[in-house]
Amino acid sequence: MEIIVLPDADAAGRHAAGIIARTIAARPRPVVGVATGSSPLATYRELAALVARGLDVSRTTAFALDEYVGLGPEHPQSYHAVVDREVTRRLGLDPGRVHVPDGSARDLEAACAAYEQAITAAGGVDIQLLGVGANGHIGFNEPGSSLGSATRVKTLAPGTRRDNARFFGGDPEAVPVHCLTQGIGTILRARRLVLVATGAAKAQAVATLAEGPLGAYCPATALQLHPEATVVVDEEAAAQLALREYYDFARDHARDLPAPPA
Ligand code: GLP
Repeated sequence: MEIIVLPDADAAGRHAAGIIARTIAARPRPVVGVATGSSPLATYRELAALVARGLDVSRTTAFALDEYVGLGPEHPQSYHAVVDREVTRRLGLDPGRVHVPDGSARDLEAACAAYEQAITAAGGVDIQLLGVGANGHIGFNEPGSSLGSATRVKTLAPGTRRDNARFFGGDPEAVPVHCLTQGIGTILRARRLVLVATGAAKAQAVATLAEGPLGAYCPATALQLHPEATVVVDEEAAAQLALREYYDFARDHARDLPAPPA
């Protein structure tokens, strides 16, 4: 796992946006996995700036990680609406190519299976952007989730409902109890993972996901299983990393190796 520590959230967003932009530019039909929450907002802002400077996203398909059960696209806090506001419109993506799990489907299990099939039919996710919950969740895979899970219905953790109450007028009871989320197995099938975490509230989750024992207690530790995972953090989120000296040393010498033979 590559750990990049940068001074602040803007620098982290710029770095993550650069990685995503290079993937988009390199693929004829790029498939990008997008995340909600505050962590990726700086990344979307930077990507929008790159689009304004000529990055072509017209052939880009996007898949969101998750959605609340029972909130239709018309609800401003549904992830359909959030992704539309923060990603589709900002970047100028074709709305027909942006997919979010259907949390208001009558048959939720069928909606989950259809979502997995849609990802496969698109050729799989080239690059998945992730945030991390303070409890180590990725998507809405709460602690205790199977590390091999597929898209499915999950129950939110009480702490996640409290964390997300800020989007629902401050009332944790107003936050839906259930969600649909890509599984950890789904996320691990993406060809590249980029996780962005900023702020002191994420310091413990970041230390555990990067260095802690792999396990369901911290679902984000699953990134340790992925061959192409990059974690981009600011100083506050990096505060509890034990191997910080090594990460900075590796970053500073990343370009020292001889180029591979042509
Ligand atoms: C939310 C989302 C996650 C997100 C996480 C952290 O509940 N389902 O995808 O990464 O919690 O959110 P934030 O970035 O706002 O701290």
